[in-house]
Amino acid sequence: MAEKRNIAFIGSECYPFVKTGGLGDVMYALPRALVGEGCEVRVIIPLYACIPQKYKDQMEYKGSFMMDLTLEGRTFFVGIMELEKDGVIYDFVENKEFFDWGNPYTGLWEDIPKYCYFAKASLAIMNYLGWAPDIIHCHDWQAALVPLYKRTKFWDTPVGAAKTILTIHNLRFQGICSIPHLKYWSGLRDDLFDYPVLKWNEQEANMFKGGIAFADRITTVSETYAQEIQTEAYGEGLDAHLRYHSPRLSGIVNGIDVDQWDPAADQLLAAQYDVDNAIERKKTNKTALQERLGLDQDEHKMVIGLVSRLTDQKGLDLVNAIVPQMIDGNTQLVVLGTGDPRYENAFRYYEGEYKGSVCAYISYNEQLAHLIYAGADAFLVPSLFEPCGLTQLIAMRYGTVPIVRETGGLKDTVLPFSGGDGNGFTFSWYDADHLLGTVNDAKTVYFTDRYAWDEMVKRNMRKDVSWTSSADKYLALYDELMQ
Ligand code: ADP
Ligand code: GLC
Repeated sequence: MAEKRNIAFIGSECYPFVKTGGLGDVMYALPRALVGEGCEVRVIIPLYACIPQKYKDQMEYKGSFMMDLTLEGRTFFVGIMELEKDGVIYDFVENKEFFDWGNPYTGLWEDIPKYCYFAKASLAIMNYLGWAPDIIHCHDWQAALVPLYKRTKFWDTPVGAAKTILTIHNLRFQGICSIPHLKYWSGLRDDLFDYPVLKWNEQEANMFKGGIAFADRITTVSETYAQEIQTEAYGEGLDAHLRYHSPRLSGIVNGIDVDQWDPAADQLLAAQYDVDNAIERKKTNKTALQERLGLDQDEHKMVIGLVSRLTDQKGLDLVNAIVPQMIDGNTQLVVLGTGDPRYENAFRYYEGEYKGSVCAYISYNEQLAHLIYAGADAFLVPSLFEPCGLTQLIAMRYGTVPIVRETGGLKDTVLPFSGGDGNGFTFSWYDADHLLGTVNDAKTVYFTDRYAWDEMVKRNMRKDVSWTSSADKYLALYDELMQ
């Protein structure tokens, strides 16, 4: 085996401490997989007030210092609280001015200073602890200034020797603000605010753009998304910049932590199951789900689940357009999510309109999410764009058949059903009729060819959705950079 690698993960959220979406899952699962491969991994995240007290109680104080930030060189407190879990070391950056409010995000105006501070403090912490990373693996725009700080203010310090990787989990959020605001808070040199790096337009700067220009490597979370973001349709205005930097850009698909998501051991289910008893025991979970949500209790109905942030990204306008045709007396729809009031209200409306057949659970609820993955028959992910998507992977692991749009990681992970093989039902045009047609195809197989359906359930449960092969791809990338 190669020499031991020291890897730092820097990002704005990490399960189980703080999670709003898939980034939190990846920040949890990939470090664990890398530790399993013999790496030493430190995960650096902010110590938000919203982190549950039970974790704060387990943290150990590792030191503190003052750090300058801003053009004026104002000094700010940096505290380090540490916790070790299953071989991964978590360093929490403590500063009450920045991290004492929000859930964890507030608004972009406040988040920009917050994550300038976080990026710089993360590098300073590693120097303070005397821990030299080989690779600094940065995630999304909140950590995008790390490569810039590393190559400027920190170049002649111990962390300056590390290589940086910037992973794009979602290009829609880029950290864009007025040039003076970012200049003031970051304290970065004027020449970095030119067009090749941070400058976005005459008035604004873009943190993700700067990180892409300065990172040694850029990755994103599926091969298809790595291609898509180089096109105008998916590039969110950064497609030309990404095409220019494409020799350093690649896609590595996410996995899921198969211990965290394990139907055979999941205590949040009404009945645990494996591939041999899934067909029977999923029915127990289905009726438990129906009972919990006030739906008609009938194991013969097809339950379609959806667990998602309720935003434009997720294709919810398509779902809204077809609910009346979907609910045909034999089908139920369960939606768990929060987000845009437009979608929250639309699903609430449908719940009232189709009592007993539609449930809109407008909330963030881990426990219920597990029961939906287990109790539903099919699972909807008709996204407009989807860098990777984890919910379809979790659904497959729980023997629930995904219905997805062929984009990003959905395209790379769900093969269309074609009689004897495939994992789910797919469509490519972003169009409500196409979604409806695909839901109807799924219903036809479910109601008329249960043998083929059940075989697909079992095939999906056997599919490797773990991190194993993708963690190896990251290791190969780390090794290439370390040479
Ligand atoms: P994204 O990161 O774009 O939100 P992903 O599919 O990568 O999408 O990851 C979403 C993660 O968040 C999954 O673990 C999913 O189970 C979880 N999740 C999303 N919404 C909710 C919710 N309302 N309650 C519980 N878990 C949720
Ligand atoms: C983002 C993407 C999602 C991806 C997740 C983890 O939030 O929207 O597709 O699975 O990050 O990489």
